[in-house]
Amino acid sequence: MRTIVRVQDLTVAYRHLRVLKDISLEVKAGEILALVGETGSGKTTLAMAIARLLPPGATVRGRIEVNGHDLYAMPAAAVRPLRGRLIGLVPQEAMAALNPVLPVGAQVAEVFQTHLGFSASEAWARAVEALARVQIPHPERVARLYPHQLSGGMRQRAILAMALALHPPLLIADEPTTALDRLTQGEILALVRQLQAESGMAVLWITHDMGVVAALAHRVAVLYAGRLVELGPCSKILSAPAHPYTEALVRTYRDLIAGGRGEPFYAIPGHPPSPGQRPSGCPFHPRCPYRQDRCRERFPEPLRWGERMVACYFPRGDLG
Ligand SMILES: Nc1ncnc2c1ncn2[C@@H]1O[C@H](COP(=O)(O)OP(=O)(O)O)[C@@H](O)[C@H]1O
Ligand SMILES: [Mg+2]
Repeated sequence: MRTIVRVQDLTVAYRHLRVLKDISLEVKAGEILALVGETGSGKTTLAMAIARLLPPGATVRGRIEVNGHDLYAMPAAAVRPLRGRLIGLVPQEAMAALNPVLPVGAQVAEVFQTHLGFSASEAWARAVEALARVQIPHPERVARLYPHQLSGGMRQRAILAMALALHPPLLIADEPTTALDRLTQGEILALVRQLQAESGMAVLWITHDMGVVAALAHRVAVLYAGRLVELGPCSKILSAPAHPYTEALVRTYRDLIAGGRGEPFYAIPGHPPSPGQRPSGCPFHPRCPYRQDRCRERFPEPLRWGERMVACYFPRGDLG
């Protein structure tokens, strides 16, 4: 499959604070890559770097290509008109960013007017189609409603309709279902899988929830304190995580599923480090039950086998 996103040796800093270091990953057409990690690990920064939407104070090293376009090799003014067609973006807190005084149909229609120069009536007709595509019932009626008149799930669908309006080859969604209840969240994930399979687009789905990963992703990238520590197929990562941090994440998730049976939840001891105070060597070492002296010294060279990658001196399990 065609590579839609190629990130090579990406390092991002906000002023003197290094937030991402040496990130390399790809997302191919037809696949959903989940990006997981605790709050502060740099997930949003990676998403915004891919869209070239980082705030002005951020410095970026490395290379990012989206659908063959080297986004940092062109002037910002050239990226702007391209971005809308290239990347469907559901930013973190997108639900809160809907305009409360504009019907949702008008907000979707605006995409068609801005990017394709459609007339108001043509854009409205296309907006209704876009709402139908995300399986909003009675889309012509719903298009006239204001955000507060819609349920959380319907608002989230409207946001997806906006992101997918121009049929971009890439969808980036930043923790979009976090505010929804489990049932609604499941419906949205099923919809995304269906739309993704129909369109063959590439999806980068950001979450801190392993339940979402299990329900949605083909592959998983695990971020810890700005480092990519593990990457591989979803089923393999969930059944045989190689990095001790991934192992801990998967364990918390399994305990959550097993919950209700009165078993105590496993929580990863300690806290993730803030960017100003990241430990030397492997940043996970202070929390890692398997750490040895060398883990303090330098970040491990990534090990690669099959479709998998892990950056750890003492990976778990059998790397066969
Ligand atoms: N605009 C910014 N200026 C300075 N620091 C920032 C900025 N945005 C994010 N950060 C810091 O970068 C780190 C990673 O943040 P973020 O990418 O939002 O992580 P995540 O999405 O995984 O929670 C955090 O420590 C955050 O405080
Ligand atoms: Mg975030």
